[in-house]
Amino acid sequence: MAISSSSWALLFFLAILLSHGVFKLEASHNVYTNLQVSESVPAEQPYRTSYHFQPPKNWINDPNGPMIYKGLYHLFYQYNLKGAVWGNIVWAHSTSTDLVNWTPHDPAIYPSQPSDINGCWSGSTTILPNGKPVIFYTGIDPQNRQVQNLAMPKNLSDPFLREWVKLTKNPLMAPAQTNRINSSSFRDPTTAWRGPDNRWRIIIGSKRDRRGLAILYRSRDFLNWVKAQHPLHSAKGNGMWECPDFFPVAVDSPIGVDTSVIGNKVKHVLKVSLDDTKHEYYTIGTYAIKKDKYIPDEGSVESDAGLRYDYGKFYASKTFFDSVKRRRILWGWINESSSVNDDINKGWAGVQAIPRTLLLDKSGKQLIQWPVPEIEKLRINQVNFSNKLLKGGSVLKVPKVTATQADVEISFKISGLEKAEVLDPTWTNPQILCSQKGASVKSSLGPFGLLVLASNGLKEYTAVFFRIFKGHNKYVVLLCSDQSRSSLKQDNDKTTYGVFLNVDLVHETLSLRSLIDHSIVESFGGKGKACITARVYPTLAIGDGAYLFAFNNGTQDVEIANLNAWSMKKAKIN
Ligand code: FRU
Repeated sequence: MAISSSSWALLFFLAILLSHGVFKLEASHNVYTNLQVSESVPAEQPYRTSYHFQPPKNWINDPNGPMIYKGLYHLFYQYNLKGAVWGNIVWAHSTSTDLVNWTPHDPAIYPSQPSDINGCWSGSTTILPNGKPVIFYTGIDPQNRQVQNLAMPKNLSDPFLREWVKLTKNPLMAPAQTNRINSSSFRDPTTAWRGPDNRWRIIIGSKRDRRGLAILYRSRDFLNWVKAQHPLHSAKGNGMWECPDFFPVAVDSPIGVDTSVIGNKVKHVLKVSLDDTKHEYYTIGTYAIKKDKYIPDEGSVESDAGLRYDYGKFYASKTFFDSVKRRRILWGWINESSSVNDDINKGWAGVQAIPRTLLLDKSGKQLIQWPVPEIEKLRINQVNFSNKLLKGGSVLKVPKVTATQADVEISFKISGLEKAEVLDPTWTNPQILCSQKGASVKSSLGPFGLLVLASNGLKEYTAVFFRIFKGHNKYVVLLCSDQSRSSLKQDNDKTTYGVFLNVDLVHETLSLRSLIDHSIVESFGGKGKACITARVYPTLAIGDGAYLFAFNNGTQDVEIANLNAWSMKKAKIN
């Protein structure tokens, strides 16, 4: 058989990639063929976390199938059994009574049948009406097609649910010529919900050309699934939708609701993870059950220029309904910002963010996120001051805090708002604005906030701060996380992140909370109206060399209404 010149070109290109040991699966993670297995984990580990979930070693990515069963929280996650880069993926498994301290178990799902022999990728759990949990996950079959498989607990009286049995009938959903599903873009099934017609529904992330798709399937018995003619929703220009999540949030109520709840007391949220940009976005809208369509509210931006759970590093997230405490909890993966070589050397990559409760804001236009209160039991040695003037151009050391491992809340009283810098109408991109006007560029009101993981003499620091602008008819608050001075090391991704924070400065206090954990700075502005998570790798601000400061680099004074800082105890995170 003759091989065409274009096939030769493709083979040549593949050979080059392979000889460099790097391979990009279509719509997935980089595959380093020569780095799949790492030897041992070094003893010196300045970047390992103390209370953010991570296993003792190796690569992790997406949180999978979080749930509560018999009072125990379960977290599964994508895990490389052998090394610190993506590959050899199984569902690792840990349980917890408090979402803070975790007990590891053996992997729950690993390749064992034809329908998942080449990989066990992301998915979700559903608690059936009889209380029995089941897992839907994406398997990679012998033809490298993405298919959907079901697994059930082997022994329901084992509270840890350590063993899972896969259906011999798997896969229950597969790409075929008749259903026009792209076999390399069909993954990450959601938690199922049940409509008033008693039929179960599930969505699966996909794309057609450049259109992101939430493919809808229905079933009466959870075993036989039929693809709906139309997707639940789709959006042009998005590319692949990974890890979709679809759930209701209560209107005007602090209580979370189960995934199957519909009606006029709830709005619905659709979140997707964009493979192209590795950002997520969500919209709030209506679930029109008769047509089985999700309709985002008017004005929704259907791209990552719209609403995001987190404007920093946070991906492949998933929520679950905690039926005991009646709240919806969000888990998300925080990837590294270091080089692959650094990941190999430290022997691990990836952590999970602190689980956050998720509620609909009173405005109905956005969600509010807050770290689960359980994390507060790690707080010790509180340092507090209130009503303290922070003069323009000053830095204030927060004493007696373990600055590598802390929880800090600060709120500001701002006077002289009329002196705020005027917002140029062309400054529409908050991330660009934050990077152009980093922590060192002065304006009148701002930058002010926190310098975390800072070294003595400020050779290294991560600045999380506000700037206030006078916009058209209102004051505009910018929240930034500036990593540009976070490390003397050059080869980290030090992108500055930013978001406009929707607070009314005339009636609300301006507040910030940062969870600092060695190489993580997870920040919540305006009591959870916007979040930014950053990864940083200080070389001086480690151990006793790390400090915490409040700072005001604006020309106007601001007042710290309240500052509370706690050192954090170490959690049992496996
Ligand atoms: C998201 C993702 C999912 C996939 C999994 C594989 O990070 O690419 O779409 O199921 O990771 O590990």
